[in-house]
Amino acid sequence: MTNTQTTPATAANPDVAAATAQFLTPVALGLQALAVNGKQAHWNVRGANFIAIHELLDTVVTHAQDGADQAAERIVALGLPIDARVTTVAEKTPATAVPAGFTQWDVLIRNVISDMDAVIADVQAAIDGLDEFDLTSQDIAIAIKESLEKDRWFLFAHLAE
Ligand SMILES: [Fe+2]
Repeated sequence: MTNTQTTPATAANPDVAAATAQFLTPVALGLQALAVNGKQAHWNVRGANFIAIHELLDTVVTHAQDGADQAAERIVALGLPIDARVTTVAEKTPATAVPAGFTQWDVLIRNVISDMDAVIADVQAAIDGLDEFDLTSQDIAIAIKESLEKDRWFLFAHLAE
């Protein structure tokens, strides 16, 4: 009869769990904030490109939620908790560039891209920092960066000449 392991996978190496939490927590919180503020933009966008931007912003929100889930669950899989309560997200993430009220689509795209760039900076720090600790956690950060940069391109293409 096998003896079922009940300890986290990283019980032998707490440094890996700690580094993963250190670098992926800002990513998870930043993506949660992007999801909330992306919905704000989705609901309040106005102007000629309304339907395209309205629908694209929902895709940005879905991808942000997926990325937050990947980052958070990697931390928990390694045996540590994550504090992603709304108050914590608000305390630990930069103020959004997305304004209150109806906003023209081109202004709103710049605002959302600004928010995305703040998250991308944290993702890049995670990729760099996790390189020496855990390639599996780093791989999650790399996948999140690819997704964010693709969505950033889809948004920016509406402004590019
Ligand atoms: Fe909607």
